[in-house]
Formats: sequence, C-alpha cells, structure tokens
Amino acid sequence: MYTEKVMDHFQNPRNMGEVENPDGVGEVGNPQCGDVMRITIKVDEEQDRIDDVKFKTLGCGAAIATSSMVTELAKGKTLDEAQEISRKVVAEALGGLPPQKMHCSNLASDGLQKAIEDYRARHAKKETV
Ligand code: FES
Repeated sequence: MYTEKVMDHFQNPRNMGEVENPDGVGEVGNPQCGDVMRITIKVDEEQDRIDDVKFKTLGCGAAIATSSMVTELAKGKTLDEAQEISRKVVAEALGGLPPQKMHCSNLASDGLQKAIEDYRARHAKKETV
C-alpha cells in the first residue's frame, strides 16, 4: 500500500527537529485527524535561499514521511523555488500515496509555505524599520 520511498522516509526521517534561531516558522494542523506539524527554516538572506529546514510532526506515518520529503526538497532551494513545492509535488516525489492518505501530504507542503510566509512577513517588517 505504501511505496518504498514512503517507508524509507518514515523509517529514516531526514531533518527531524528544529533549526536554531529560525528565520521562519510554519505550524499547521490537520482538521481531519488532529495531527500537527511544525517546520522551521534558516534563510541565507543574500541569496534568498533556504540553508536549513527541519520538521517536528506529531502525526501518522504518512505525515512523517511527507514532512521528511518536504525538507529534502526544500533544502538549498531559493524561496521562490520552494514556493513551487505544492501538495502534489510532495506526493509525487514519494511515488504517490494511498488515496485515503493524500490529506497527510497536505500538512507538509502547507507547513513549508507557512514558514516561507512567516519569513517574508518578518523580513518585510525589518525593511520598513
Ligand atoms: Fe493525520 Fe495522516 S492521519 S496527517
């Protein structure tokens, strides 16, 4: 029912934890199951690039696998590139998810997008000071 990639990321999650002094934080909850995820990012301001990204997920195996995958996809990308990491992109990178688990992949991309939004909001504030 799960692809090898999903099982691999579930059993050996990448980038678990929290980056120190994050530049952006994204927290999302899944209304369908109550699971929650927190994504923290460190951004290279000059290059507008995600230097580091980590996740903490209190959720099902699919949510953990998609969180792990999203951090791998986002690391080293510019913020504009990382904004292209949609729910669909994450699910595809894992070789697909069972239909009843598709909602789990939403958490990961939504969490990342929120962290980017948070960074941009903080940054905009800094620039107007
Ligand atoms: Fe909650 Fe998968 S069942 S995120």
